[in-house]
Amino acid sequence: MNRVPSMVFAVVVGAGLVLSGCSSSGSGGGGGGGDAKSQGKIGVILPDTKSSVRWESKDRPALEEAFKAAGVPYTIQNAEGSADNMATIADGMIADGVTVLAIVNLDSDSGAAIQQKAASQGVKTIDYDRLTLGGSADVYVSFDNNTVGQLQGQGLVDCLAGKPSNVVFLNGSPTDNNATLFTAGAHSVVDKTPSVKIVGEQSVPDWDNDKAVTIFEQMYTAADGRIDGVYAANDGLAGSVISILEKNGRAGQVPVTGQDATVEGLQNVLAGTQCMTVYKSAKEEAGALAKAAIALAKGESVDAPGKSRDDKGNRDVPSVLLTPKSITKTNVDVVLSDGGQSKDEVCAGQFAPMCSAAGL
Ligand code: BGC
Repeated sequence: MNRVPSMVFAVVVGAGLVLSGCSSSGSGGGGGGGDAKSQGKIGVILPDTKSSVRWESKDRPALEEAFKAAGVPYTIQNAEGSADNMATIADGMIADGVTVLAIVNLDSDSGAAIQQKAASQGVKTIDYDRLTLGGSADVYVSFDNNTVGQLQGQGLVDCLAGKPSNVVFLNGSPTDNNATLFTAGAHSVVDKTPSVKIVGEQSVPDWDNDKAVTIFEQMYTAADGRIDGVYAANDGLAGSVISILEKNGRAGQVPVTGQDATVEGLQNVLAGTQCMTVYKSAKEEAGALAKAAIALAKGESVDAPGKSRDDKGNRDVPSVLLTPKSITKTNVDVVLSDGGQSKDEVCAGQFAPMCSAAGL
């Protein structure tokens, strides 16, 4: 048991935020004193910069804001897609005195090893966004990922509007438990829709957008172009699919799903080349992580009313599961008014008239 008194969050007045490359750390606001080691510092390791733009463009700033607002010292680094990197970063953070370590795992086995090592040194761990199967995280902070998949499946079915349709599934990384949950949620809706026939299904290793282009092109060719709708697990994969549909003169005629409400995803939704995306507020998720991390650092119980099943570890992991929102052309304002993206970015250049037409 690693208990840290609440005064550990007293921080150095005027201590600045250090930003270098893909690493940032800070001491939060507030007054008081004490070195980082005695302060119950919180470490976060993001997974990569390629599987989604969300990690660096949304999660990092939202986490920084949440930790600063709470006045807790923190350090955030990015593993750049390498599980070895993540393990090295975790060792460094533990040596540097973090008392709570949150990771977005790159695969469950490497995540579980990091958590086991952390626990052996009295460091509490949190699964951020992705559940580590067979891991030992004290708490899991995420969105309800099965619901994300259901929203995607329903979005696709709605866009197909009852027409007899051949659809293909382009799933996320097989090493990401979220991808499994998204796919299961989507299938739970699509499979019971009689007008829809699933004619192909593939996973995209590491959510790699370039590989997704090749995989989808092969699926398109194998189906002789007879594809009327595509389940794409996130906005990055949707972009890959749309590029092939464009090449074949079909973009805008074939509904494609997405997730993350990225600038590009929202622009595709406005342009009609993507039928929907899913908005998961980074501010909400980062805020929930900060709250859980602070409670763990203080040795207090975490308010985690949900449960997530880890069959590999044969346990139910206490969870904070937030509510995702489905976004189509008719409600892009939900993301903008929540500060999820800025109107200036989404409605720039050629997208300005589309924004006006959508009432933005
Ligand atoms: C996240 C998605 C993200 C994907 C690729 C998933 O685990 O929940 O938001 O698009 O990883 O990074």
